Amino acid sequence: MRIRPTLERDIQWLPEVERSAAQAFAAWPALAWLAQGDVMDRERHRAFVDAGGSWVAEDLEGHILGFACARLEDQALHLHEVSVRREAQGQGVGRMLLQQVVDAARQMGARELTLTTFAEVPWNAPFYARFGFEVVDEESLNARLRGILARELAHGLTGRCAMRLYVGP
Ligand SMILES: CC(C)(COP(=O)(O)OP(=O)(O)OC[C@H]1O[C@@H](n2cnc3c(N)ncnc32)[C@H](O)[C@@H]1OP(=O)(O)O)[C@@H](O)C(=O)NCCC(=O)NCCS
Repeated sequence: MRIRPTLERDIQWLPEVERSAAQAFAAWPALAWLAQGDVMDRERHRAFVDAGGSWVAEDLEGHILGFACARLEDQALHLHEVSVRREAQGQGVGRMLLQQVVDAARQMGARELTLTTFAEVPWNAPFYARFGFEVVDEESLNARLRGILARELAHGLTGRCAMRLYVGP
């Protein structure tokens, strides 16, 4: 398995990878609807690829197991999505993708890596916390993160929190 930048030819597979990843939520009653939810379309993926903010994990046969995409926003690299195929979850692929995004954030000169996620879902906030991220409490939210959480809430995503990892010098 290796992590590499996403290429144009990979984009066709990424919506299906995200749909497969979302099956993890099927066993979580309050969020089971996410298993059938919308996924990022090819155009959105292409924008991340064109900006150098998309990576895939592929197995030895070249099958895509997962992807991560992120964008520089102010002085932060913001992780928009990380998804690992349902059958490949729990084997360290997500952690390797996340490490790639951390390395990219440092190379880009970002001060921090940020994301929003479900606070109570075991493979979301607790996973990021073990990685070193901290929850940004309500009073410390900047306008950017506050805006992302508000838009997510408007789309029915409750129980979300923002997290950050300092990556600067
Ligand atoms: C989140 C996700 C990308 C993690 O990828 P992964 O390849 O399964 O993760 P890893 O195997 O590297 O495991 C990362 C950690 O999560 C834990 N984990 C993974 N799946 C889990 C599950 N179903 N239940 C509990 N913990 C889980 C692992 O034990 C591991 O713990 P560690 O920190 O002690 O190492 C993947 O589970 C996924 O695609 N989920 C659905 C989409 C999603 O939730 N994306 C994140 C949006 S913020």
